[in-house]
Amino acid sequence: MTNFSIAPAAEFPLAQIADLLTRGFAGYLVPIQITEPVLLTMLRRDSIDLAESRIIYKEAEAVGVALLARRGWTSRLAAMGIVATARNGGLGVWAMRKLIQEAQARGDQEMHLEVIAQNTAGVKLYQKAGFKKVRNLFGYTLEKPPAASTETLQEIDIRELARLVAYHGLKDLPWQLSGITIAQHTPPARAFRLNDAYCLISDPTAEHVAIASVLVKTRSRGAGLAPALLRALFARFPNKTWHVPPIYPEEICGVFEELDMQRAEIAQWQMRLNLLQAD
Ligand SMILES: CC(C)(COP(=O)(O)OP(=O)(O)OC[C@H]1O[C@@H](n2cnc3c(N)ncnc32)[C@H](O)[C@@H]1OP(=O)(O)O)[C@@H](O)C(=O)NCCC(=O)NCCS
Repeated sequence: MTNFSIAPAAEFPLAQIADLLTRGFAGYLVPIQITEPVLLTMLRRDSIDLAESRIIYKEAEAVGVALLARRGWTSRLAAMGIVATARNGGLGVWAMRKLIQEAQARGDQEMHLEVIAQNTAGVKLYQKAGFKKVRNLFGYTLEKPPAASTETLQEIDIRELARLVAYHGLKDLPWQLSGITIAQHTPPARAFRLNDAYCLISDPTAEHVAIASVLVKTRSRGAGLAPALLRALFARFPNKTWHVPPIYPEEICGVFEELDMQRAEIAQWQMRLNLLQAD
């Protein structure tokens, strides 16, 4: 019987965790290269707790990592990767069971994650562990849209946007879109407002710009404010390729469809496990 074990990630140098993550995601559906700076941003932005994250061992060899984020009574499996040679031997299921037991032992009530819908091993693993699908998450791209709008955007502090998202956003937004995560973004990211519509974007001096948040205040929904805001954004920063990461709930994606953005092939499932009822 193979001997599997785990150890707290906090006991390992960041460079080693980053390297193990990169190897754990080798051959993934999207290329993943985790460097130390990338890992530091993930830790800060997503509330990853290295003391509760785990290095996964097969016999004496470190072969995987599970990064665990925590906020209040909720945990999120932020990443789990096992090196190719150790996959498909039951280690994923074993490690997931351990992570769930540990979360229950510290009093957590829910665990969240997002998994790429086409990732057969991942989806199987999480379903087996009892996770239920909450919704589809989609992403979009748009190359160099026309600069057609004459509306003027007002720049606002990212913290102000974070507060509005926490108040007006869906209560079960994916972790990375939540107001708490938005508050961790800093310049060169920028936030803008047009009337009651708001957005957060990555550094707009770059050729590729990510749309990290879009919000319309509850009272003004259904009036086309979000597409108007995004058109104004495209006009203010012309000749960019715009990316909506595949973390947006399907029910709000009409905004991107209306702008003729291309839906990305990679889609995700938002999943949730009730730790009070799990075995
Ligand atoms: C996803 C991952 C963590 C699963 O770990 P693992 O050790 O391979 O998982 P297990 O061996 O416990 O298998 C879990 C289930 O997936 C199935 N599975 C494993 N590899 C598979 C593959 N390549 N294709 C189809 N199913 C696969 C197993 O058969 C098992 O299902 P079963 O119990 O119904 O037979 C691992 O494959 C991995 O690191 N992949 C790359 C990174 C990744 O996708 N991470 C998850 C995204 S958040």
